[in-house]
Amino acid sequence: MRITVRSGRVDQVREGVQVYAALEGERRPERLLPSYAARDRALSRLIAGSGFRGAPNETAFLPRGNRWVLVVGLGKAKDLALDKARQFAATAARTVRARAHRSLILPVLREPPFGSPERVAQALAEGALLGLYRYSKLKEVPKHERDRRIDAITLVVERAGDFAAARRAVDKAEVVAEAVSLVRDLINGPSNIVTPTYLADQARAIAKPLRLKCTVIPFARLKRMGFGGIVGVAQGSAHPAQFIILDYRPARAKHSFALCGKGITFDSGGISLKPSLKMEEMKYDMSGAAAVFGIVKAAAMLKLPVRVVGIVAATENLPSGTAQKPGDVLKTLSGKTVEVINTDAEGRLVLSDCLHYAKRYKPDCVVDLATLTGACRVALGAEAIGLMTKDERLAARINQAGKITHERVWRLPLWDEYAELLKSDIADIKNVTDTGQAGTITAGKFLETFAEGLPWAHLDIASTAWTDKDKPYVPKGAVGVGVRLLIELMERWK
Ligand code: BES
Ligand code: ZN
Ligand code: ZN
Repeated sequence: MRITVRSGRVDQVREGVQVYAALEGERRPERLLPSYAARDRALSRLIAGSGFRGAPNETAFLPRGNRWVLVVGLGKAKDLALDKARQFAATAARTVRARAHRSLILPVLREPPFGSPERVAQALAEGALLGLYRYSKLKEVPKHERDRRIDAITLVVERAGDFAAARRAVDKAEVVAEAVSLVRDLINGPSNIVTPTYLADQARAIAKPLRLKCTVIPFARLKRMGFGGIVGVAQGSAHPAQFIILDYRPARAKHSFALCGKGITFDSGGISLKPSLKMEEMKYDMSGAAAVFGIVKAAAMLKLPVRVVGIVAATENLPSGTAQKPGDVLKTLSGKTVEVINTDAEGRLVLSDCLHYAKRYKPDCVVDLATLTGACRVALGAEAIGLMTKDERLAARINQAGKITHERVWRLPLWDEYAELLKSDIADIKNVTDTGQAGTITAGKFLETFAEGLPWAHLDIASTAWTDKDKPYVPKGAVGVGVRLLIELMERWK
């Protein structure tokens, strides 16, 4: 579905549900947006009679003449921020679809807290497209459900002078939303379908039309080449591990990024078996890898002037007669040895090889994305990505990108005292601490050992990659977190 951009007013577009926004008031909306809607007395009267107040994402779907009007609440004026625009568009699009209409018209709001028309247009387009996402590959959907789909979205800028910037922003949003949807599909896909080889095939499929270089190192070669971290995790599984490199290398690249993704297609815990409650959710343990694919794809489609090398370790973590056992010692690609105290701390084992491998590209920046620790959920809940880095400048840049995209990060320290917790009696390092302290940070410290010398940041997305709660532009299930954040980071890199 393409999004059309026009200039003028919402009521000048002939077809589709006309959407307006409202700021929250005590008993009725305090104000309608855009300002031309606020001046429309008949519209205000129509809404006043409906009991609608303008609370965040509250809706009123009202007939007016032979057309339909949808008003969506933005909440209080003092709380306005760009993310409200994403939610507004998503709620509008989903409500229109649920009412079995096919098209809608959204105003590009101009209130100062939202920012430039370009930003607002991008946010609206992203919000609408991401909100409409559904995972319906594996389920028979009744016909009346299937027929509910949006065919057309029109964004309306008030000033003709804003048209070109809005159009560019919408083009970008379409690319980003497509990438996020791909990431969500991969994560929502069950582990019997989304296997390591499936991920490798996906990488090849992304690479082909965009002429990216895709290299896949299969399990047998990983063993010969000394990828001890990945092999240790993968040896318990019947599905062969895959090490996947997806390389976008434009001719005039100004900077280079390496992105490492944890691609555990199913994490049972291995011999340190997890409890069965919610174990089915551990198909999302490849969310970092999926995000990396989405980011490289979007960067290439947007023709960003930077090199982006995606490095993904894809494997299952299962118990079996060949699985690694607590107490085993692995020799990682870096040469460093690891005592595996807990086989469920497998993400850091596979990432240690990815990070070491990233060194050969001499990147200006390395970011890893990983559903690494349950402790991250305890510390930060579903609202923040755990950020760990010693690079102040990189931290500030990622933080800024997080504020813009609302994929917000919260930094945890990597002070060297924490490394004490990972000292092993028989190897260079052990993979977990038995103290129960600082689970997210010690995982970060473990990774830091293998990122030695790199300008590196770690993003723990364990609590942000999946949602049990339906949100306006994030339907229940896979979030696709990380794509918008990293694209924003790379776009702004100077
Ligand atoms: N994949 C899990 C982390 C996780 C937990 C992600 C819950 C999403 C939701 C990771 O491999 C893991 O099992 N980590 C252990 C580490 C522990 C053994 C030190 C954990 O968090 O319990
Ligand atoms: Zn685990
Ligand atoms: Zn895991």
